Parts: sequence; structure tokens; C-alpha cells
Amino acid sequence: MKKHQLSPSELHHRYQIQAAWTAAIRSKLFTISNMQAANHILEVGSGTGVIIGEISTRFPGLTFGLDIDPQANAFASDCNPQTCYVTGDGEQLPFPEDTFDTTLCHFLMLWVPDPGKIISEMARVTRPGGWVLALAEPDYGGRIDYPKELAEIGELQTEALAAQGTDPCIGRKVRDIFTRAGFLEVQVGVLGGEWTGSPSKEELDSEWRTLASDLHGTLPNEMLANLRKTDLKAWSDGSRILYVPTFYACGRVAG
Ligand SMILES: C[S@@+](CC[C@H](N)C(=O)[O-])C[C@H]1O[C@@H](n2cnc3c(N)ncnc32)[C@H](O)[C@@H]1O
Repeated sequence: MKKHQLSPSELHHRYQIQAAWTAAIRSKLFTISNMQAANHILEVGSGTGVIIGEISTRFPGLTFGLDIDPQANAFASDCNPQTCYVTGDGEQLPFPEDTFDTTLCHFLMLWVPDPGKIISEMARVTRPGGWVLALAEPDYGGRIDYPKELAEIGELQTEALAAQGTDPCIGRKVRDIFTRAGFLEVQVGVLGGEWTGSPSKEELDSEWRTLASDLHGTLPNEMLANLRKTDLKAWSDGSRILYVPTFYACGRVAG
């Protein structure tokens, strides 16, 4: 059976949920980098425009999104016409040097074969003194699942991500990548975990749609259905812990 590819609107929904997880990191990095004063802002790997769309409504600067997927760009342009979306490869940004005050990415480095190349391209197109922000990069190697029956989900999902050509342990590498890129004032951190209540039914459905897509063909449907039941029960009885360390990094371009 063919793996179900998520449509742009399913992806958009998924990205909105992920953006809610990382809202605290964004606020912190937007303050550090003084986003309010940035005139030209670029997101690389902007997907359906959730993050750069938010920036375009919160800050006065002109916003640009670049993604390799033209379908994602078309969807993003419809939702957020005030941002200019460009189709291109983050490893070869189609902009001259010093074009932007701030350049950022969010859940991108995980997906690219050479994240160091993307970050140095982001530095190239950012003016001296401007900021490069990696807002969120997960580290599935550090994932914690409880109760223990659910650890299998984490292991299988990590394997499935690696099979898709990603680097599931990118989070722990962002400091090294930013330091090697020669930025000034490199700051790196990890999003903390807090568990109060449980995710909404909508969030859990979205999580399981993504899991079913990632794990397609690796587990019999019945086993997947049982894991889902255990997951939902653990959320509803208040015992569930799911923690994927999610790192951020920022650095200022040397003058
Ligand atoms: C997980 S999505 C994140 C989208 C968006 N940043 C967000 O968080 O809502 C990663 C995006 O990176 C894009 N992408 C992957 N490789 C890329 C590359 N080499 N250059 C530009 N975009 C790329 C994908 O098409 C996808 O839209």
C-alpha cells in the first residue's frame, strides 16, 4: 500500500500545532534579535507559512519565505499574501549577500542533508550585525516516553525518520554548527517540558496521523491501534510523559 502523503492543509495544521509547542522559544529569540527593528526578514524552509506569517503580523519588517516545495509556497501565499514566497533550495539561496537583517528557520535542519551549508548560506544573505536564528530542532535520540510500553513508538518513529533521510539527532549538533559558522554571540538552549492536562483530541489525532504516516508498513495495523489506545489512556489518566528535547540556536553575523 502506498504511504499516505499529507496534503498542504494537513501539513499546515500539523505545523500550527508544532508552532504552539515552540512559542516560548520564538518570543525569547525575537527579543534577543530585536525583530521589531528588522526591515527585511527571511524564513528558510517556510513550509505553509505558519512562522513567517506570524512574524508578518507581529512585526513591521518586510517578510520573505523560501521553500523547496512549490505546493507549500502556493498554499502559504494564499493564506498570507503579505509575505513574498520564493521557491528555492536553502543550500543555494537566490539572494545577494547582506540582503536581510534576520534570517531564521524552524524545524528545517532535521530535513536537510547538509545543515551546515544551509546555516552558512543564511549567514551569507544576512547583513553584518544581523541575526541568524534556528528556532527549533528536535533531538529524537533524547526522547523520553512513559509508560514504558510507549517507548517502542519513540524508537520506531526515530528509525522511520532516519529512513526518510533525516538526522533525528540534529538538536544536539546545532551548537557545533553555529560555532563553526563563525557567528558572534552564539546562544543555544533547549525547550523545557511542562505537563499540565493533556493535549486536545485534535492534537492527538494530528500526532497519530503523523505517526501512522511515518510508521506506515513497519507495524501491523492492530499493533498500532493498541499503541494508540495505550497512548490515549495514559494521556487521559494523567500518567503520560512525552519529551523530545527541542533545541534552539542563534548567532550574530560577524562584521
Ligand atoms: C518540517 S517543515 C517546517 C515548515 C515551517 N518552517 C514550519 O515550521 O511551519 C520543513 C520544510 O522545509 C522544506 N525544505 C526541506 N529541504 C529544504 C531545502 N533544501 N531548502 C528549502 N526548503 C527545504 C520542506 O519542503 C518543508 O516545507
